[in-house]
Amino acid sequence: MDGAITSRGLLRVLTCGSVDDGKSTLIGRLLYDCQLIMEDTLAAIARDSRKHGTVGEEVDLALLVDGLEAERQQGITIDVAYRFFTTPRRSFIVADCPGHEQYTRNMATGASNSELAIILVDARKGLLTQTRRHSYICSLLGIRHVVLAVNKIDLVHFDQQVFDRIVGEYATFAAGLGFHSMVPIPTSGRFGDNVTQRSGNTPWYRGPTLLEHLEAVEVEEELTKIPFRFPVQWVNRPNQDFRGFSGTVASGAVALGESVVVAASGVTSHISRILGPDGDQERAVAGEAVTICLADEVDVARGDVLAPVSDRPAVADQFAAHLLWMDEEPMLPGRQYMMRIGNVWTTASVTAIKHRVDVSTLDQQSATRLALNEIGLCNLATAQRVAMDPYSQNRLTGAFILVDRFTNRTAGCGMINFPLRRATNVHHEHFLVDKAARAASLGQKPMLLWFTGLSGSGKSTVAKLVEQALHQAGRHTYSLDGDNLRHGLNRDLGFTDQDRVENIRRVGEVAKLMVDAGLIVLASFISPFRAERQMVREMLAEGEFVEIFVDTPIEVCMQRDVKGLYAKAKRGEIANFTGVTSPYQRPEAAELVLDGAGPPAEALAQQVLALVERRQAGG
Ligand code: ADX
Repeated sequence: MDGAITSRGLLRVLTCGSVDDGKSTLIGRLLYDCQLIMEDTLAAIARDSRKHGTVGEEVDLALLVDGLEAERQQGITIDVAYRFFTTPRRSFIVADCPGHEQYTRNMATGASNSELAIILVDARKGLLTQTRRHSYICSLLGIRHVVLAVNKIDLVHFDQQVFDRIVGEYATFAAGLGFHSMVPIPTSGRFGDNVTQRSGNTPWYRGPTLLEHLEAVEVEEELTKIPFRFPVQWVNRPNQDFRGFSGTVASGAVALGESVVVAASGVTSHISRILGPDGDQERAVAGEAVTICLADEVDVARGDVLAPVSDRPAVADQFAAHLLWMDEEPMLPGRQYMMRIGNVWTTASVTAIKHRVDVSTLDQQSATRLALNEIGLCNLATAQRVAMDPYSQNRLTGAFILVDRFTNRTAGCGMINFPLRRATNVHHEHFLVDKAARAASLGQKPMLLWFTGLSGSGKSTVAKLVEQALHQAGRHTYSLDGDNLRHGLNRDLGFTDQDRVENIRRVGEVAKLMVDAGLIVLASFISPFRAERQMVREMLAEGEFVEIFVDTPIEVCMQRDVKGLYAKAKRGEIANFTGVTSPYQRPEAAELVLDGAGPPAEALAQQVLALVERRQAGG
């Protein structure tokens, strides 16, 4: 969601609606009537209109916009189409977000740096779920000015009542969205009514034409007027004599001599040099890419944020934010994602979903997960403390994205509401006796043997034999087992995806404490998701986590069916049963894979013991 400068006279517009609403035609009309379409392009469209157009002998203006669209789609990187045009009074950048639901993500990209949204409604259809959804997202992403284009007004015979009804309904819905201006205009993209020319067909309409309004509307947001924020992109140190911090000024302005603070560390200094493309400069403002030098040798790294001493961003590792989910794979609380805020990458997870927002009614619902396109107010926790502002105060330093750790897809985007100042008085206590001391007195290397596999694969059976042998050899062990923990610590958890995430998170934390106590811990859990197995791995020190995949084909597990659960699952008496109605993600890089259908359990236990002894011996 990188933003660019908002220079005076430039208006960033987002168009929302589907192709059916006549969006392309309306934008095409705007360009055409502003005489911004080149003659040769026009000739080509006229030719294509006769071939592919949908409007008989007329020029199909949608072909202009859609034609560009098609060209654009051959590129790979841009997912929002931007069009730039200028009239004698103002310049415009129009971001066009595709209308379909699955493009929420693109819409968010376009909306995050637009100042005004044109929300298109087909006069015949009135408000659709999509209209509400787009409006809510616009509001969430900080757009404060809206044009409600009630389009295809010709197809309802320029009926004022239809217009008034739609506008009334929209005004009621949008009342809580915090728009500073909402201007409804009856338009016909096809015939041009009220686009650039006032229409004789709507004598009852006294407002501006679309173009008049776009040229005149005042948008107050000015990135240069809010506090200075400089997320450091890289530390520039070509030689011993020079050390500068390069990046783009996100907001505000800064001048030579001013004092600044490194947000996370709280260390202050003042600006000794500002270097731009033409060498030294006195000031830098939002949008400028510069290198800043400080008077003192302070510790600044990539991702740090420089800010005025008197107006600092919050620095927190827990915060509340609206999260817009854009991945097919749902967001599960407790699961870890990569988070990017400014130039910082860290890991983050949702610790609670306060509520989900029904975008059609704006109702708040309780939720345990967020599916594709859903929006929720969430609490999040990050691995490291990061600088942030509320999104309402700064659309750049208040926004973040979450990235799936395995697919690298952008899975969600978030708008920060406020930092949570919880547990700031809780510090890590360092004891005089530590893991190494305990391990030494027990005479062993602490480790976690993590058995994963289907129910009935033989995890617990093998783990029991391993523990027994280790115990007999004088090792200090402890076993954690799904069936047992689910009677106590995890009594409140079932088998939905989100409960399994939480199950493994808790088990991971407990196992980590036991490893810290110096023990060799054996954990037997289905642990069907690689994300959580990876999370536990990362909770421990290098080499401590040993993943043992008990690879038993489901047919064999079903045949054994020691607990009779597969039979029940097949009869539909148990929901979400792993392997039957709930997925199991096979490990890709387990330290050990056991053939659970072949050798007897004793032989499998020997394989594990051999590995443990190798590790204990330092191999
Ligand atoms: S995990 O998926 O969250 O790791 P865990 O290992 O704790 O599961 O618990 C699995 C055990 O719970 C199974 O061995 C089985 O005895 C029991 N169980 C009951 N219902 C289910 C279910 N729907 N899916 C899987 N196991 C279930």
